Amino acid sequence: MSSTETRPSSADVSVAGELTDQRILVLDFGSQYAQLIARRVREQNVYCQIVRHDLTAQRIAALRPKGIILSGGPSSVYQDGAPQCDPALFDLGIPVLGICYGMQLACAALGGKVDHTPSREYGRASCNVQVSDGLFAGLPESIEVWMSHGDQVSAIADEFETLAATSTCPFAAIRHRSRPIFGMQFHPEVTHTPLGSQILRNFVRGVCGCEDSWRLSDFADEAIQRIRGIVGDRRVICGLSGGVDSSVVAALLYRAIGDQLSCILIDNGLLRKNEQSLVIDEFSNHFQTDLHVVDAEDRFLADLAGITEPQEKRRRIGHAFIECFKDEAEKIENAHFLAQGTLYPDVIESGADPDGPAATIKLHHNVGGLPDELGFELIEPLRDLFKDEVRRLGLELGLPESLVWRHPFPGPGLAVRCLGEVTRDKLAILREADAIVVQEIQDAGLYRETSQAFAVLLPVQSVGVMGDARTYDRAVAVRCVNTDDFMTADWSHLPYDLLAKISTRIINEVKGINRVCYDISSKPPATIEWE
Ligand code: XMP
Repeated sequence: MSSTETRPSSADVSVAGELTDQRILVLDFGSQYAQLIARRVREQNVYCQIVRHDLTAQRIAALRPKGIILSGGPSSVYQDGAPQCDPALFDLGIPVLGICYGMQLACAALGGKVDHTPSREYGRASCNVQVSDGLFAGLPESIEVWMSHGDQVSAIADEFETLAATSTCPFAAIRHRSRPIFGMQFHPEVTHTPLGSQILRNFVRGVCGCEDSWRLSDFADEAIQRIRGIVGDRRVICGLSGGVDSSVVAALLYRAIGDQLSCILIDNGLLRKNEQSLVIDEFSNHFQTDLHVVDAEDRFLADLAGITEPQEKRRRIGHAFIECFKDEAEKIENAHFLAQGTLYPDVIESGADPDGPAATIKLHHNVGGLPDELGFELIEPLRDLFKDEVRRLGLELGLPESLVWRHPFPGPGLAVRCLGEVTRDKLAILREADAIVVQEIQDAGLYRETSQAFAVLLPVQSVGVMGDARTYDRAVAVRCVNTDDFMTADWSHLPYDLLAKISTRIINEVKGINRVCYDISSKPPATIEWE
């Protein structure tokens, strides 16, 4: 979503902060892993919130966290302009865990020394645990950890003691002798530190004393009450796209306000095979919402005629979407609210939370952001949740796994996978090829292991033979990637047999295709989509 643009006023449906008085704060020093730390803490059923690194100790105390985690970050602590924290936070008596840069910062503030390592350490290391209680309770003497740093702590103050070391890092983990302050040079939050979750658990449960207090079922109950209170007897409109986020928003709202919810699905003619019927099945037949399906294929395709430039395609699709949505929304009486599937990472990255980190530069290419002029008040019931939590919530609300685990699909849909000009014929070919890719990956049991898998219709024709005849038909690229965050991605190393089956089926079953290629580029330098 283009969250930095002016936004309609938003009803405050955030309930997470009130649901539990047990929260862990992550102070973000620019780490690529800050969100991962928060997700890992939440996996321990403890609420975790990411805040800006320069929050004052007073403000931190006012948020009453049970523990504070200082994230890693790309800077060197002594460098000019390096992000700092308020040193008074170490005096609050609240447990602190510094990870990587966070540890270096704590040490530098409390009498230790940080130096450049001769060469940047990046990768797995074997770590010797010297004190196996507290953070390392229940862990073996030797554990595998993930290092990623240029600097490291070279001396600790007398008030600190060493908990663990590696052959190149004498202070892999440390703690203050009398205060609940801990540091760790390695990253417990990444999966390359296999016992990292246990270490974080020891911190949030053992050291901070947090209990099992963050449960999605409680969240759902609380959010439903809050939504009912805010909405009263007015009506909420929710745009459905077939994707996970909007589906979960709709399911939650339906649970809260039943027939006061109206859903709108704009079929822009750029949806995947059977997408419209999937949404109708779920939201009209199963949930029986007031579902408005707008068949706008002609309108979108007319707007796209002759357009080949990807950003111009996006712009036109975005514009047409707003127009269609507006026309339909005007027909719905007493509509006051517009529900959106904004997630916690969107909130963090947009800088919308006053305690949260400053906005980061991230390319948001979502279309479908609806402007102020629609005049609705926004309701964003998922703004406290990470994607994996949204999925779990979706299942709790009764959405089927096939919908909850669907791969993301871009707002401009097949238009950015139909390279060059978008036409009805090309879309029909692409849709069939795409359905085969997805179905074969599902049948091979690999759908959940891949992050996105789809077909791209290339703007080339090539020569082939079929039977005795020469063909001059189109080519399709199969794109399949694995990624955690969609900012970087690796191409999926699918088995050859599966690729062979996909290729054979597409060429045999989709008229107009005589060649299939597999895209083996990573992001960066390539992107996931081709346009
Ligand atoms: P790229 O191609 O930039 O994609 O590597 C990263 C993720 O974003 C999705 N994507 C979009 N999503 N509107 C969207 O809503 C768009 O215009 C758009 N372009 C790319 C892409 O599918 C991937 O998940």
